[in-house]
Amino acid sequence: MNEHTAVANGTNNIVVSNLTKTFGKVRAVRGINFEMDRGTTVALLGPNGAGKSTTIDMMIGLTTPDFGSVSLFGHSPANAVHMGLIGAMTQTGSLIDYLSVRELVSMMAALYPSPLDVDEALRISGADAFADRMTRKLSGGETQRVRFAMALVADAELLVLDEPTVALDVEGRRDFWIAMRAFAARGKTVVFATHYLEEADAYADRIILIAHGRIVADGAPTEIKATVGGRIVRATLPNVDLDKLRPLSGVTSVERRGDAVTLNCADSDATLRELFTLYPNVRDVEVRGAGLEEAFLELTEDDDDEAV
Ligand SMILES: Nc1ncnc2c1ncn2[C@@H]1O[C@H](COP(=O)(O)OP(=O)(O)OP(=O)(O)O)[C@@H](O)[C@H]1O
Ligand SMILES: [Mg+2]
Repeated sequence: MNEHTAVANGTNNIVVSNLTKTFGKVRAVRGINFEMDRGTTVALLGPNGAGKSTTIDMMIGLTTPDFGSVSLFGHSPANAVHMGLIGAMTQTGSLIDYLSVRELVSMMAALYPSPLDVDEALRISGADAFADRMTRKLSGGETQRVRFAMALVADAELLVLDEPTVALDVEGRRDFWIAMRAFAARGKTVVFATHYLEEADAYADRIILIAHGRIVADGAPTEIKATVGGRIVRATLPNVDLDKLRPLSGVTSVERRGDAVTLNCADSDATLRELFTLYPNVRDVEVRGAGLEEAFLELTEDDDDEAV
């Protein structure tokens, strides 16, 4: 059975089971579990040190887990990489010196069973503009485009990307995501780590929020936002006692800046009804959905160190 049959025949999923990794005293990853269907795009979102890169490195076989396992379309990471099923951009590691960009991407292409055309990969990644330059003369953003070209040229089933848009300018980011959308539209699978909440929200079908080595939320971007319930009500309400606003229906927390109050609400409809009844002088009322930013802060606030 070749890899394409394997991918076509049922073992379609990516299964990450109880992944655990400790470095000395640092419990970097503490039991991460998720399954992904083929053809989906999943974002691993979390603050610095959350365990995203460690998880990704275990998924592509760069780091060996202490416990747990990873199955990529029914294969171990090492086998899946060997079979050319995986294209990756890791967070660290420099490009090989004394090669031109085109030579490096060509070398990469030669490692894969059915690579993209090298010029095509250079064009999609925007590295075509400096394809003949030596790799050690590249800027940070240019280097990132080359790393992207190296991942793309594999034309693999799964792309695993650790903070792929770091160092890219606005245009670079836009080009990157256009290429990713086209890749996903061909039924390919993408996992990417990011700090950029907007990127996870805009480009992933699903967001796995990681903090302190654990999954703290897992769902569609809209579900993640719903998990923390929130709407934010802002209004002008001079001289009100915040202690009187806290007990209003549906309110989870309150803040004041000058005459403006901000109410974080689990049920903003209930809050607004009471607010208008009790404070007829309230004005400039605004309601907005709590963005991923708020969800992220609230879910990762959880303190660190309960026992393993
Ligand atoms: N090789 C290592 N040796 C020791 N500690 C490590 C090693 N790799 C990672 N760590 C620690 O493990 C924790 C998780 O690191 P990891 O790189 O997975 O986080 P991350 O979510 O990718 O963070 P960032 O957003 O900063 O890239 C951190 O506390 C880090 O210091
Ligand atoms: Mg990282």
